[in-house]
Parts: sequence; C-alpha cells; structure tokens
Amino acid sequence: TQVDDKLRTGFHFQPPKHWINDPNGVMQYKGAYHLFYQYNPKSAVWGNIVWAHAVSKDLVNWEILEPAIYPTASFDENGCWSGSATILPDGKPVIMYTGIDADGRQVQNVAYPKDLSDPYLREWVKPEYNPVIAPDAGVNATAFRDPTTAWRGPDGVWRLVIGTKDNHRGIAALYRSRDFVHWAPARRALHSGDTGMWECPDFYPVTDGNGNTRHVLKVSLDLTRYEYYTFGEYDHGSDTYAPDATLPDGDGGLRYDYGDFYASKTFLDTGKNRRVLWGWANESDSVADDVRKGWAGVQAIPRKLWLAPDGSQLMQWPVAEIESLRVGGSHVNVTDRMVHGNGGRGVNYFEVTGLATPAQADVEATFQVMDLDKAEVFDDAAWRGADAQTVCAARGADDKGGVGPFGLWVLASDELKERTAVFFRVFKRDDGKKHVVLMCNDPSRSSYGKGLYKPTFAGFVDVDIAANGKIPLRTLIDHSVVESFGGHGKTAILSRVYPTKAIGDKARLFVFNNGESDVKVTNLNAYDMGSAKIRTETETGSDY
Ligand code: FRU
Repeated sequence: TQVDDKLRTGFHFQPPKHWINDPNGVMQYKGAYHLFYQYNPKSAVWGNIVWAHAVSKDLVNWEILEPAIYPTASFDENGCWSGSATILPDGKPVIMYTGIDADGRQVQNVAYPKDLSDPYLREWVKPEYNPVIAPDAGVNATAFRDPTTAWRGPDGVWRLVIGTKDNHRGIAALYRSRDFVHWAPARRALHSGDTGMWECPDFYPVTDGNGNTRHVLKVSLDLTRYEYYTFGEYDHGSDTYAPDATLPDGDGGLRYDYGDFYASKTFLDTGKNRRVLWGWANESDSVADDVRKGWAGVQAIPRKLWLAPDGSQLMQWPVAEIESLRVGGSHVNVTDRMVHGNGGRGVNYFEVTGLATPAQADVEATFQVMDLDKAEVFDDAAWRGADAQTVCAARGADDKGGVGPFGLWVLASDELKERTAVFFRVFKRDDGKKHVVLMCNDPSRSSYGKGLYKPTFAGFVDVDIAANGKIPLRTLIDHSVVESFGGHGKTAILSRVYPTKAIGDKARLFVFNNGESDVKVTNLNAYDMGSAKIRTETETGSDY
C-alpha cells in the first residue's frame, strides 16, 4: 500500500514529521496550555524518545517548540519516557518523567522550568539529585514507569502513582513525599489487577452536580492496548482506594474510548474549571507506510470529561474551542428527513451534500428510530457478557438488521466502494422491555489499500432509546481520523482509516439505514472544518 500523504490531519494535533506517542505533562500555566508528547526526533518509528513540546492559547492552534526533555545524564541516557506535570502550591510547575538509565532501568526524574518568566517554559532543568524514585529490590525495573500528576493530602504529604507489574499482576504503585525530592513507597499499592502491566495510570477526583466526589483510576493495558477505568472511594488518611465492586479493571470494564486511543492523561484546567483528557491515536497502516509517509501518530481532540448525572460513567465531549474551526457560512442542515427501512432488501441512503470539505468536517446528527418493535432479540446465549466489539463483529454495517444498522458513511468514495461506517444497532431483551444500543465503527470497506489494520470497534451506549427513539451522534472527520461520540458523549470511538480514493475533495458523506425500521434524521448539522495552525516556532535546521 502507498498511504497518501494527503491523509495528514487538518485539526488533530500532529507534528510536521516523525513518530509521536503518549501525551505527557499536559497542563495549563499562566494562560498557556502545554502539551508534551513522546517523540522520535529522527524517524517515523518508535525510538530515541524525547519529550517534544507544544504550546497553545486555545487547545486548537499550536506552536511547536524545541523538545523540552531529552537524554542528558546517566539517569535518562536511554530515553525520556512518559510522565506528568504537577502545579506546586506556589504556582510553579514540576515535571516527573520516567528515565531509562544507563543500566536500562526505569527510574523517575524531576525537571523544573529554567526561567519562570518565559511563558513558553522552553527550557527545563534536571537537578543533580535525580533519580528521585528508583526501583527498589522486588520492583520490576523494566516495568516501572509513567508517574501521574501528584496530589497533596490534608497532611501536606505528596502522593503519586507509578505503573508497574508483578508477573501478570498490573499494579498502581503509590509513592509519598514531603518535599518532592525524597520519595518512599506507601505500605500498599493503590490498586492492582490480574491484567498484565499497567501503563500510564491516571488518578483524579470528579464531582457530580450534587457535590459528591468520586475518584477515577485509569490504566492503559499493555497487553490489549486498551484503557480501562474504575470509580471508587479514596481515603486520604489510610491512602486506600476502594473501587466499586460493580465493574472489572480490565476487559468488560469502563472505557474512555472503544477505538484507537491509548496512554491518555487528564489535567485540571483551572481557568475554565474543567478536566481535559488527551489521548494518543496510533497509525493502523504498516510500519513501511509510516516510514514512507515520514509521520506516525496523532493526538485525539482534547475532550472535556465529567461525571454522568447518575454517576455510572464518565462523559466526554470535544473541547468547545474546536468549534472555532467550523467554517462560517458553509454549514449544512438536514431536518426531519426519513431514511426508510430496507424492507428486507437493499440498504437505503442519501448523500449529505453542500460541504466543501467532507474529508475535514464536524457532523452532529440526531437519529430517531420509528419502530423500536423491529429490534432484533439480543442473543443472550451467544453474547451474554460479551463486549460490544464481539457483537459488532458478528453484526457489521452490511449485515441487515431490525433496528439499524443506521448512521453515517464517512470518507466515502464516488462509487461508495470505500466508506467507513459509524452506526448504531438496537437490540431488545426481556421481551422488549429493555433495549441494548450498540455503537460501532466499521472500517472494513474503508480502503482499497492492503496491509491495513481494520478492526471493528464498538461500545454500548447507555441511552434510554425507548423514551423517544432518539440517539445523537457527533463525528469529527479528519482525513485519516474518524472520532465519534454517541449519546451526547456517553460512548466514544476513534478510528484511523486510509482511503485511497475518498481523499480530500473526493471524499463524500452519507446517511444510511440498513435495518427494517424507518429512521428519521430529525436534525443534522455538518460543518466544514478549517485547519488548525500547528507550526514550528523557528526553522532551526536541526533534526527537530
Ligand atoms: C505507552 C508507553 C509508556 C512509556 C512510553 C514510551 O505507550 O509504552 O508506558 O512510558 O510509551 O514511549
């Protein structure tokens, strides 16, 4: 396959070239947002890892600076891996990151801004006393990394979590310090699970509208490349986290995203009083294609994160700032348009016309199911306890259904031979008293290209479809990114696709219905999206 360079993103963050992975040290400082990220300054494959650095006033447009943290000393000479920023009580930021030391061990180091009067915080100084946390005897020194943002208890003691493992047991190890210099392990881990290595943990409080605080512990599962989170109660006094017993830590547990989204990290945006989530989306083409393209990896659109009113899950929505890219005057609206059921025959569809750039667009739609009775019975025998992905793999976009599949075909080619389906399918159980709403991203027809990884991604959407039959969908289309939010932010799926024909102004957008029930598009607004300004600060002529 020859993946086209025109598939670079227009508004998802990516540097001009080379490899990126995890977002690191995300923070807001004196009105500027800082995004650091794992970066290979030399090529489009993972390696030579440094912390690249970009700053922004609006989370949309970015100035890329020189890398902030790169190997300089024995405590990080083999790589500067993931970590987090903490804003100290005096307002100064500190970064803690994982260094791969001269012996190949994973150790935790701190770095401080060299010049606090530089709003860009370009230069970072690593004290001589690093590392501040080294793996003790009994700790797996090659799986001991990705420190979280630290928090300070009422007792004035700092705490943070480091991801590690003991054989197959993933561990969120807890460390404590009075001065951010001397750190000691707590008596017990914050949490652990029988899932394999926990990378990139994140731990933070969320508050509901009634002033109840829950804690969230998120881990990235090295083995499956998916992320899971639990809610629980955190007690500062005993430093214990008691996750709700309802959901597992791994498979079957709660997810931020059901697609290509990994190594994520949140920060508290105090200026706007919101928690913002960043996550990395890897390529799903071949390594050879990445090398040919010269770039690999993007960051998902930063998402505002909050607790669902019923406390059962987190909600996510692209930060409002991204709407500033909606091109004024070229917005397309569809109101109360019926897409009839297929009557057991072919799929019905219509094109959403009028966009200048359907390959770079923001689409918000509300679908209304006209006849819920047509919902197929959820196959409990085959699917009980199964994850949505299993169900969706069995019932893809081209598999005729009762209620759905219906939704969008995005990045579709003229003859509709290439298309990525983002769709819903509704099942019933308990004699129709309950419904199960499935949301899927089916890229199986997304490209003529060969050697592409095209898994179906899916999640259930916890909406009360019986109330009025309505289900909302928002999809951000960005050349090789399809990032969708179902149920007003209840279920998110990010997918990477590489069409060969549906590229640039050749891409088209459709609404389809391949189920028996009629589906009405009660409202659809589609916006052309301008490109974010993502610029390197200077042409330095260096490798960076
Ligand atoms: C997650 C991860 C982290 C590590 C970093 C290295 O993608 O493997 O655990 O710190 O990437 O680049």
